[in-house]
Amino acid sequence: MAIIQFPKDMKWGTATASYQIEGAANEDGRGVSIWDTFSKTPGNVVNGDNGDIACDSYHRFEEDIELMKELGIDVYRFSIAWPRIFPNGTGEINQKGLDYYHRLVDKLIESDIEPMCTLYHWDLPQALQDKGGWNNRETIDAFVQYAEVIFKEFSGKINKWLTLNEPWCISFLSNYIGVHAPGNKNLQLAAQISHHLLVTHGLTVKKFRETGIDGQIGFAPNTTWLEPYSNRQEDIDACNREIGWYVEWFMDPVFKGSYPDFMLEWFKKKGVELDIQDGDMEKINQPIDFLGINYYTGHIARHKENEGLLDWEMVEMNYDRTDIGWPIFPEGFYKVLMRIKESYGDIPIYITENGSCYNDEPENGQVKDSGRINYLQQHLTALSRAIASGVNIKGYITWSLMDNFEWAEGYTMRFGIVHVNYRTLERTKKDSYYWYKQTVANNWFEN
Ligand code: BGC
Repeated sequence: MAIIQFPKDMKWGTATASYQIEGAANEDGRGVSIWDTFSKTPGNVVNGDNGDIACDSYHRFEEDIELMKELGIDVYRFSIAWPRIFPNGTGEINQKGLDYYHRLVDKLIESDIEPMCTLYHWDLPQALQDKGGWNNRETIDAFVQYAEVIFKEFSGKINKWLTLNEPWCISFLSNYIGVHAPGNKNLQLAAQISHHLLVTHGLTVKKFRETGIDGQIGFAPNTTWLEPYSNRQEDIDACNREIGWYVEWFMDPVFKGSYPDFMLEWFKKKGVELDIQDGDMEKINQPIDFLGINYYTGHIARHKENEGLLDWEMVEMNYDRTDIGWPIFPEGFYKVLMRIKESYGDIPIYITENGSCYNDEPENGQVKDSGRINYLQQHLTALSRAIASGVNIKGYITWSLMDNFEWAEGYTMRFGIVHVNYRTLERTKKDSYYWYKQTVANNWFEN
């Protein structure tokens, strides 16, 4: 038994995202997003599920905030649905959309929970997708205008901002692998979109500074870790390519103002020609105040010629997997944080997402999700190792407060520490909720 102790000023939180929890898809003037379109196209989402109702948090946010208050957390990370503010992406502002987020944020502040706002967690207004979406540079301008409205509107209430959640997913998962909205399968398109997203991020940070409002801004890339099967250079290179696709591809431009050469060369080999306009790299390379890191899984891999995009294969180690099938690999969490420290220095880091899928159901009012508690213990221990090794961790925000619409998996995969019954919308605190509550209160746990 060992005590895993966290620093005194450690911030604890939970995270959600608008389309995954809000529901009320047709209320108060909300416009259509790409996720409405995608989820309603047969074959895209398991069981044909969509976010029309989701957790109905739009109507039940007060109850959800009560859950967080009892949990004792410091921070709630949520996202604003762009189509609630600009139903067509640009043009007229929908006041009722702004009003909703004021109600939410006011209630958080009243409950002594700090709001951390993600400006984009994937619900692009469909009207912009119809004009090319993130492949069209006009979407960059539309986003910066939307962000400026939000910054000014919530100045003094929200002090922590994230521009984009997981640009890798927005670009490659959604436009090359094609399993998320809008569902394209085109590497050239996806790579170009990744560049436009980075420009969007940079210009939004610039706009934030120009407005002169108080607060801190960053972004939340998703990370992973592949441990080389052997010390052969080809295995090491293969793993570095996959990590590089997630980490360096998105972080080097932000922190260093350039793309990593090894990835540029690889993409070139695959026929990708990036259109980088004059001044783009300077736009991207804006100082940020903190970095959000999302981490879920990793594994062992080795080089394999002509395998997938990056010439590697996973080697099955029979690690335990969560119910969504992702190997549990806390060591990777520690390692990727160490790599980020080495490459980008002591930038303050919030873990903006980390959590697990376990589909346990309530039995007599109790949800015995011991798998999730175990996952949290393992990953918080890895995080504590990173802190002990000098990584500048400011907070840990678990995914997710409650079960919700899990994108292409619909309602079949549950990541919450609170169970949601999608028929009655009843919330039930899981065992992991109580475990997390204790950990937050103590600022330590016993392993
Ligand atoms: C996303 C969340 C998602 C979670 C679990 C992250 O990639 O930001 O929206 O629910 O992973 O898949």
